[in-house]
Amino acid sequence: MRNIGILLSGRGSNFVAIADSIAAGRIPDARIAVVISNKPDAPGIAVACKRSFEALVIASKGKAREDHDREVAASLKQHGVELVCLAGYMRLLSPWFVQQFPRRILNIHPSLLPAFPGLEAQEQAFAYGVKISGCTVHFVDEELDHGAIIVQKAVHVRDDDNERTLAARILEQEHLAYTEAINVVLDGKFEIVGRRMKLRTQNSG
Ligand code: GRF
Repeated sequence: MRNIGILLSGRGSNFVAIADSIAAGRIPDARIAVVISNKPDAPGIAVACKRSFEALVIASKGKAREDHDREVAASLKQHGVELVCLAGYMRLLSPWFVQQFPRRILNIHPSLLPAFPGLEAQEQAFAYGVKISGCTVHFVDEELDHGAIIVQKAVHVRDDDNERTLAARILEQEHLAYTEAINVVLDGKFEIVGRRMKLRTQNSG
């Protein structure tokens, strides 16, 4: 059984999508060992409690980044977590934290990276006038929204879209993309060359 740890700060729809995928057998042989929020009032942590997941608030307010990260990492390790999934976790991770879980931290971002990193990516894309946007699941490295890409899904921008309708269609794709990416990483059948993550086929050994 592979133990997944979820870090979130908000609504938690990606967490719920992952939980539903596990429950439906779309992510086999895995469980969510712990859900941690850095914000006491995150709706996602209330959902986690309601669904009887191990749910913790480790408040970040007023703490130095690495001090907070050490508390979070200690809890993840205590719960035997081997894969950390950021699901709307609105806090930068310290290099120290990233090094604790090499190639074992995933993030989802609501744009086709490297376009529109940072906050409010859907609004940025909409305002820029792109015709295609989407979402990206990537490994987390020391830079913001930067590590090797695992899965991307494209979403066409319609003429009658606004920021909200576009974000909603991107979110649907996020939920699919995260499950795919978790399966790729847990299966371990990939290699990373430079920035490129390539699936290893049977022939490529
Ligand atoms: C998602 O759009 C995700 O891509 C971004 O933060 C948002 C989190 O949404 N990183 P939710 O809390 O999972 O509903």
